[in-house]
Amino acid sequence: MITIIGAGRVGSAAAFSILRYRIGDVVLIDIFENLAKGEALDMMQTAPAIEFDGKIKGTNDFGEMEGSDLVIVTAGEARKPGMTRIDLMNKNAKTVKSLVREVVRYAPECKLMIVTNPVDVMTYIAYKESGFERKRVFGMGNVLDTLRFRSYIALELNISREDVRALVIGEHGDSMVPLVEYAAVSGIPIISLLSKAQIDKIVDLTISSGVDVIRLKGSTTHAPAAVIAIMADAILRGRNRLMGVSTYLQGEYGFSDIAIGVPVVLGKNGVERILELKLMPETMKHFEKSVSTIKEAIKELQE
Ligand code: NAI
Repeated sequence: MITIIGAGRVGSAAAFSILRYRIGDVVLIDIFENLAKGEALDMMQTAPAIEFDGKIKGTNDFGEMEGSDLVIVTAGEARKPGMTRIDLMNKNAKTVKSLVREVVRYAPECKLMIVTNPVDVMTYIAYKESGFERKRVFGMGNVLDTLRFRSYIALELNISREDVRALVIGEHGDSMVPLVEYAAVSGIPIISLLSKAQIDKIVDLTISSGVDVIRLKGSTTHAPAAVIAIMADAILRGRNRLMGVSTYLQGEYGFSDIAIGVPVVLGKNGVERILELKLMPETMKHFEKSVSTIKEAIKELQE
């Protein structure tokens, strides 16, 4: 069973993706009971069309998350045009802290996925507040960045997106690090297929693409929902998928006491292991900048 806290745009779209791909039953919780109930009812009525027999329940009762394998937190404010992820931080930190206490109370054995922005800082807070082992608390951000990176590589080359494999690590924000040296099309490194100018353009588009969507329609919905389902699938089905996930570091890449996106194997226990890739000196510099951006944000957290 999967619980999603926050039945807003991302939470409800993620619930639908999880049902559509038959990953598991869903409990959708929101402080607005009618919203959660209404979304659940709407999805229940869609279920015959997608041949899904599982359960979907909407509620404002946190006790309903009892027994969840995975709890996904999408509650909190979304970024408005012109607002940075860091601006959101102190407001959402309070929400996440209080929700994590509910998770510890009702689903103490679950894996906990944080989506609320700024996701790396919220993951750090959730890890500290929950007292869970670090493998059970992680944040969604880099998989979304990676989808964007792959999309722009595919567009530039006019090649199927399916054949493009890549990874983005670091902050889920302006200092993210698309790993150009490891991006490939059917095993062929993109550095041998594209010029430096083309690659720079792809990297810039990848970094700005979240903001581009927010400027146009106010929020991002479909891509984050799809990514939440991909990660839920990796966990519930124990698929051990390799992806960029915000994880609390204890010395990996030379850093500690921070949650940041790194390559991990995601499986039934959550973060099964962290991969320490050898990075080019220039890439490592970008990763270090990402680390200081998040560390500075953590310092600015109000009690
Ligand atoms: P939204 O405003 O549509 O939905 C948020 C929902 O959370 C609302 O329905 C609200 O009632 C609920 N909520 C607030 N406090 C709550 C509480 N204490 N308990 C239960 N429910 C509560 O916002 P949207 O667009 O769904 O975004 C949600 C969050 O996800 C934002 O922080 C946004 O920035 C973040 N996000 C993160 C992404 C990522 O890649 N990590 C991608 C897209 C969004």
